[in-house]
Amino acid sequence: MVLPLVTFSDDGKLLGKGKRMFTWPPKVSLGLGTMHWGTTPLDKVIAGKIITDEEISLIQNRAASAGVTFIDTAEGYGGGSSERRLGRLRFSQSGFLIATKFIPTYWRWTPQAVVRAIRASNRRLGIESCDLGFVHSPIHPRSPDVWIKGFARAHEAKLIKAVGLSNFNAEQVRQAAQVAKEEGVPLVANQIQFNLLVAASTSLKETVQACHENGLTVVGYSVLGQGLLTDGLTERRWDKSVLAKRLKLSREELTPLRNTILKIAQNRNCRMSQVCLAWARAHHVVPLVGTRSLSQWEDSLDGLGVTLTQDETQELDSLALGRSTFDRARSQRLLILGFLSLLMTAYKVSSVFRAR
Ligand SMILES: NC(=O)c1ccc[n+]([C@@H]2O[C@H](COP(=O)([O-])OP(=O)(O)OC[C@H]3O[C@@H](n4cnc5c(N)ncnc54)[C@H](OP(=O)(O)O)[C@@H]3O)[C@@H](O)[C@H]2O)c1
Repeated sequence: MVLPLVTFSDDGKLLGKGKRMFTWPPKVSLGLGTMHWGTTPLDKVIAGKIITDEEISLIQNRAASAGVTFIDTAEGYGGGSSERRLGRLRFSQSGFLIATKFIPTYWRWTPQAVVRAIRASNRRLGIESCDLGFVHSPIHPRSPDVWIKGFARAHEAKLIKAVGLSNFNAEQVRQAAQVAKEEGVPLVANQIQFNLLVAASTSLKETVQACHENGLTVVGYSVLGQGLLTDGLTERRWDKSVLAKRLKLSREELTPLRNTILKIAQNRNCRMSQVCLAWARAHHVVPLVGTRSLSQWEDSLDGLGVTLTQDETQELDSLALGRSTFDRARSQRLLILGFLSLLMTAYKVSSVFRAR
């Protein structure tokens, strides 16, 4: 299905120039996450299976029919092979709002690095100008101001239409908003982890507040807790959960939260994943769902009909855990940066091959 390239809404901002404009925030509050849409052998090792182009085309059609046109990728996902897929399957030409992310690595130090990276992303995506470019993370030793300035140069060169932040805390959001204003580039979102495992953290609350003060939409990732908050949490999934380890979770502390999500889901005859997505929407967050099959995506779309009552939202809020994803020591940030830089290099090697 081909959607019109220009969409209008009463309450959204219309961004971009010429015939390829888009409204922000998206009319339907849901986005397709493509972190596991890479096609390299390394993706197969990390994700266990590779979703096919045919299944993604079905997801694309179902999304378009439901009016969901926001899709999130990154140069880092599958070393660019996730972006390449979106290009091959002509997501942009089908009217989807394409967001990608620039990843600050150890070999990137200047605004010009952003321009080069966005040019390469656009080439993979098969477009001249990307709708939304996120700074993937503020973990680099250089101030994030450098990347915002880089995005401003990319915006001047018509390589992107708007800019987003990702994993920026309250202070970093305020600083970035100031720089974006000085540079005259539209800053529209902050993409952060937003789920019931982190919602009670003070730094998350302050970050959301800073986003609202500066007119940024909060885009939530890992809203399903990467499967920790959905139906069918098996022992195997728990043991393999990277998020559980990263957030230092125990199964015991998860139980009251999961029981309440399940109770609400059973009362409403819906799925736990749909309760989590509805909870994020109740907080005016646009949730991304990491989709690895058509049936998962159909669940997410069916969940658009679920709206929680204030009492249900408050009950979930009262049980939310408060793991912080923002308060990391400098040494830890540099380690993560080193790991991401290595991963990017490994992907470069792996992307020479295509997984079977
Ligand atoms: N900016 C950042 O730093 C950042 C970080 C992480 C993610 N993201 C973005 O956010 C997206 C989503 O985040 P995420 O993948 O971390 O977390 P998520 O959406 O919480 O979890 C995705 C996992 O949940 C399962 N799932 C998906 N739909 C489901 C459904 N309807 N019912 C039950 N289970 C379902 C799938 O696992 P199984 O297939 O194993 O069942 C899937 O891999 C990513 O694709 C990416 O675009 C951004």
